Amino acid sequence: MIRSAAARVLFGNWTGHSTVPSHSLYPHQWSWDSAFIAIGLRHLSPRRAQIELESLLGSQWSDGRIPHISFSPSVARDAYFPGPDFWQATTSGGVETSGIIQPPVHALAAWLTHEAAPEESVRRNFLPRVYPKLVAWHAYLRTRRDLGGHGLVAIVHPWESGMDNSPAWDAALARVEPAPLDSFTRRDTDHASDADRPTDLDYGRYVQLAGTYRDHGYDDATTPFEFALEDPCFNALLIASEHALASIASALSLAPSPHLKAAAELTESLASLFADGTFRVRDLTNGELVAVDTIAGLIPLLVPRLPQATELLATARGPRFRLGEAKLVPSYDLTGPAFEPGRYWRGPSWFNTAWLIHRGLTTLEQNALAEALREDVLKLAAGTDFAEYVDPHTGEARGARDFSWTAALALDLERS
Ligand code: SER
Repeated sequence: MIRSAAARVLFGNWTGHSTVPSHSLYPHQWSWDSAFIAIGLRHLSPRRAQIELESLLGSQWSDGRIPHISFSPSVARDAYFPGPDFWQATTSGGVETSGIIQPPVHALAAWLTHEAAPEESVRRNFLPRVYPKLVAWHAYLRTRRDLGGHGLVAIVHPWESGMDNSPAWDAALARVEPAPLDSFTRRDTDHASDADRPTDLDYGRYVQLAGTYRDHGYDDATTPFEFALEDPCFNALLIASEHALASIASALSLAPSPHLKAAAELTESLASLFADGTFRVRDLTNGELVAVDTIAGLIPLLVPRLPQATELLATARGPRFRLGEAKLVPSYDLTGPAFEPGRYWRGPSWFNTAWLIHRGLTTLEQNALAEALREDVLKLAAGTDFAEYVDPHTGEARGARDFSWTAALALDLERS
């Protein structure tokens, strides 16, 4: 039953070559959304799932980065802020994009998409076409973005984490002078409740950071970054995607070893973020780990053979996240001082992180916990009209409805 409802959302949000996360709130193509969307779409149309990823890779920059937004020319230029006129970034192929990035789920999505229909994949030459682009993407991350020299990728804007207003960014953001509020007009609060979204002060700082990067030509070597942090979620997803690239390389009769080596090196470097039973963010401006616990610290559960898995699972099940009792998995420590059950990444539970934790639980053969989480995803997705996120205590819907990755990932778990 969820299949037809999820298909209605995904086909309704399909634009002909990609899927918008939400027609109202996010009317263009978003990077990590597209990866999650492909993971669900592969069950409805493997060909569309491939095209989703290929069209995203069509916005890749010559330096290898995959921008976090690929703007649709058929949408009004001011429908979303910050739009193409703010970012001022056009690829050599003429695609208008943003200049920042999002977590690298793409190689994992490409491999899962291939696996869903290998014959269609081979017929369309899918893997040979996407593999070099995914390699260039990871190379950009591991070289240009190792800003701390710790063998980990740094993000330079909260939006790059995908978890925009996470309390883990509060201290670093507090140092940023916000852009004046009258210098821009938000569009997000036209489509979602103010109480569910980041505050105006946060937005002023987001605009300031993005404007500085833009004004330095998005050059990672010369931009004076006021915000630079190593995020465990971002890096864990890169590790999972390096493992996926190893599988893709093997399928193409290429050597998987460079990818396995990269995954092993990253896994070793990730250990330097482990503290108090979880993984924390490192702030590169002072070199310190930030003592704020968010769902980002639990995402390494999906890293194969993670040395800290047992302790991390205990943290997930403990009072901070109450895995197995809370609705899905809360985005932030339930006992933390900044907890708000309805505001974006400051407490609510999201479906993409639930999917990632489910993958981790399956890898760890925590079958009862995985099954309970799977059932929770299916029930809440269907019961909230595929909400963007939900209250972790009540399951009440928050943010947008008919949200694409919610539909896609529920569909994927229904099939698993
Ligand atoms: N997630 C951010 C937004 O809300 C930036 O992509 O617009």
